[in-house]
Amino acid sequence: MNKLTANITAVGKYLPEKKLTNKDLENFLDTSDEWIQDRTGIHTRRIASKNEATSDLCINAIKELLNGKNIDPNDIDAIIVATVTPDMMFPSTACIIQKKIGANNAWGFDLSAACSGFLFALETGSQFISSGRYKKVLVVGSDTMSSILNYSDRNTCILFGDGAGVVLLEPSNKGFGIIDSKLNIDGTGGEYLYLKAGGSRLPTSIETIKNNHHFLYQEGKTVFKYAVRGMYNVSKDILERNNISVNDIKLFIPHQANKRIIDSTAKKLKIDSNKVLINIDKYANTTAGTIPIGLYDAVNEKKVSKGDYVLLTVFGAGFTFGSTLIKWGL
Ligand code: UT7
Repeated sequence: MNKLTANITAVGKYLPEKKLTNKDLENFLDTSDEWIQDRTGIHTRRIASKNEATSDLCINAIKELLNGKNIDPNDIDAIIVATVTPDMMFPSTACIIQKKIGANNAWGFDLSAACSGFLFALETGSQFISSGRYKKVLVVGSDTMSSILNYSDRNTCILFGDGAGVVLLEPSNKGFGIIDSKLNIDGTGGEYLYLKAGGSRLPTSIETIKNNHHFLYQEGKTVFKYAVRGMYNVSKDILERNNISVNDIKLFIPHQANKRIIDSTAKKLKIDSNKVLINIDKYANTTAGTIPIGLYDAVNEKKVSKGDYVLLTVFGAGFTFGSTLIKWGL
C-alpha cells in the first residue's frame, strides 16, 4: 500500500454573532478606527455572548462540518482541540465537546500552543492518521479571547476576537493532504506575551485580580519583529526542503495577528499579494482559530482546488511558530 497522508476532507467554522467594531471601541477607549485600521488592518471582531464558552464555539463549528458531510459522530476516532482559553482548567474542552456531540468512540485532548496551536494540533492529528491507526480525526482551533482581555488596555484589546474552526482528517493513499510540517518553540520569547495568573505559579487570589494578572499581556513591538522573522524562516525552510518554489503555492494562509506582519512576511517570501488569504479585517486575531477559519473561507470562496499547494504559517506566544505544506485534496 502507498504511504498514507492525512487529508483535510471537510471544514467548519463558527463566529459569534456579536460584532465589536473599531467605532464601538472608540466609545470607551482612547483609540480611533483610523489608528486601528492603519496599524493592524482590523475593522471588526466577533465577541462571544455571556453563555458561550470555547466548547460552544467549537461545537457549532463541528456541527456544521458533520452536517455538511453527513458524518455520524460515532465514527470520530479522536478530537484534538487547540486553545489557550479552555472552558476550565479541567476537564479538557475535548471531553466537553465529545459528550455534547455524541462522539461515543472518540478520545481526545486539548493542546496549548497559543496562536500556533492549530498547526501543532494538525501535525499531531496528521501523525495519528499516517500511522494508520486512526481514520477520522477532528482538529479544532478555537479561542474566546474576550475572556482574557482587559478592555481598558488599548495595546491589546483591539487586536483579538473570538471564533472557532475545525477540519476533519482522513487517510489518503494518493498523496493528498499534509505533506510536511516544520514546527518550532523558542521559550526565550515567553516574557513578551503571556497570561500570568490562574496557573500553579500564581494561583488566583484577590491580589492577582487587583493587579490585572488574569489578562493577556503583550509587548507588541517585540512580538511583531519576531513574528515576521519566525514566519519567514519556517516558510522558507519548508519550501526549500520540499523543493517547492513560492510560485508553486496557490494560497498562503498566514496567522492573522496584524495585516502589517502578514504583508512583511509575504513580501520577504516574495509571495504575490493576491495569493495571501486575509480575513483579519472581519475577525481580528482569534488565536488558535485563525488558520482553520482561514481554511474554511478559502474553501467557501473557492480559492483552492484539488492538487493545489497551500502554505500555512503561524507565530504565537511561547514563542511558538511553524509552517505546514498541504497538497489540497478536497
Ligand atoms: O502573533 C501573536 C500575536 N501578535 C500580535 O498580536 C502582534 C504584535 N504587535 C502588533 O500588532 C503591533 O506592535 C501593535 C498593533 C500592538 C502596536 O503597533 P505599533 O505600530 O508597534 O505601535 P506602538 O506600540 O509602537 O505604538 C505607537 C503609538 C504609541 O503612542 P506614542 O508612544 O507614540 O505616543 C502608542 O501608545 O500608538 C499608540 N497606541 C495606540 N493609539 C491608538 C497603541 N495602541 C493604540 C491604540 N489606539 N489602540
